[in-house]
Amino acid sequence: MKKIAEILKTSLQEVHKASDINSLDSVRVMYVGKKGKFTSSLRSLGSLSDKERPAAGEEINKAKSTFMKAVSLRKAELETIALEEILKQNSIDVTLDGYASSRGGRHPISLARLRIEEIFKDAGYEIKSGPEIEDDFHNFTALNIPDNHPARAMHDTFYLNNGNLLRTHTSPVQIRSLLLQGAPIRIIAPGRVYRCDSDQTHTPMFHQVEGLVIDKGVSFANLKAVLHEFVACFFGKEVELRFRPSYFPFTEPSAEVDVLWGKDKWLEILGCGMVHPNVLINAGVDPEIYSGYAFGMGIERLAMLKYQVDDLRVFFENDISFLRQFN
Ligand code: FA5
Ligand code: MG
Repeated sequence: MKKIAEILKTSLQEVHKASDINSLDSVRVMYVGKKGKFTSSLRSLGSLSDKERPAAGEEINKAKSTFMKAVSLRKAELETIALEEILKQNSIDVTLDGYASSRGGRHPISLARLRIEEIFKDAGYEIKSGPEIEDDFHNFTALNIPDNHPARAMHDTFYLNNGNLLRTHTSPVQIRSLLLQGAPIRIIAPGRVYRCDSDQTHTPMFHQVEGLVIDKGVSFANLKAVLHEFVACFFGKEVELRFRPSYFPFTEPSAEVDVLWGKDKWLEILGCGMVHPNVLINAGVDPEIYSGYAFGMGIERLAMLKYQVDDLRVFFENDISFLRQFN
C-alpha cells in the first residue's frame, strides 16, 4: 500500500512536468502501458494472500484512475497551450496597410468612338456594323473599284488564303446597309479596319466611322454643314477645317478634310464626297431619285487631336501610365 502511494505520487509529478502531448503520452505508457508500473502492480496481486488481495486491488485501481484523470486534465491543458501558440503565430495585424486595388477605365479610342456615336445619334443617325473579314465585292467592286483599278493599290490590303480580305475601310457597310434596308438611309458604322501601313500617323489596325446619308435632294452643302457641326461638337470648340479636293472611286466629287494641328501643320481626319451613281446602282438604289453623301473618318486621328497625342502608335502600346490619364 505504501509502495502504491509512492508510485502515484511520482506519477502525478511526472504528469505535471510533461511539457507537451508526446512526453505526456510517454508518461502514460510508463505507468499504464503493458509493462507500466500500475499494470505490473496489478499483475503481482497474485502473489498476495487471499486476505490481502481485494484491498490491494482496490487501492491499485483507485491510484490508476486518479493517475488517468490527471493525464486527461494535463492533456487538455497542453492542447489549449498548443492552440494558443498557433493563434499567436498566425495572428493578423489588422492595422497594417492593405493592397490598394486600382480602378480601370475606358481606352481613349473607345472614349472617342462613344462620343462620336453620341453626337451622330443625337442628329438622328442609326448605328450599323459590318464584318471585319470582307469579300472583294463589298470592299471593292460594289464601291466602283473594279479589278485592276489603280485605287486597289492605294489600300495595301491584307488578303486571306480563300480570297477574302480584312476590310481596308468601313465603306463596305454602305453597300451592306443599302442592300438590306434601301433608301432613304441615315447611318454611321464605326469599326476596325486593316492596312499594311505603319508610321507616326498610321497603324496596321485602326478604326474608322463610316457615315452615309441617302435621300431626296441631299447636297454637298449638307455634307459640309454636318462635318463642321460634328467637329465643333467633338472638340468642344471651333477648329479650323480644310476641305481638300481628292479622289475616291465611290464618291464624286470627293474631298479629304484636314484639321489645323499646331502651327501650319494639318492632319487629315477623313475622306468624303457625294455617293457615286454607280455605287447607288450596285446597291439597288435609283440615282435618278436619290442622292447622298458619305464620309469615313479615322478615330485615332480624331483622338490624337482631342487628347494632344502626337504619335498615333501610343494608343496601341498599352502603357499603363499613358492609359491611366484617361480614367
Ligand atoms: C477611306 O478609307 C475612304 N473609305 C473614306 C471615305 C468614305 C471617302 C466615304 C469617301 C466616302 P482614307 O484611306 O483616306 O479613305 O482613310 C480615311 C481616314 O482614315 C483617313 O483620313 C485617316 O483619318 C484614317 N486612316 C487612314 N489610314 C490610316 C492608318 N493606317 N492609321 C490610322 N488612321 C488611318
Ligand atoms: Mg486619305
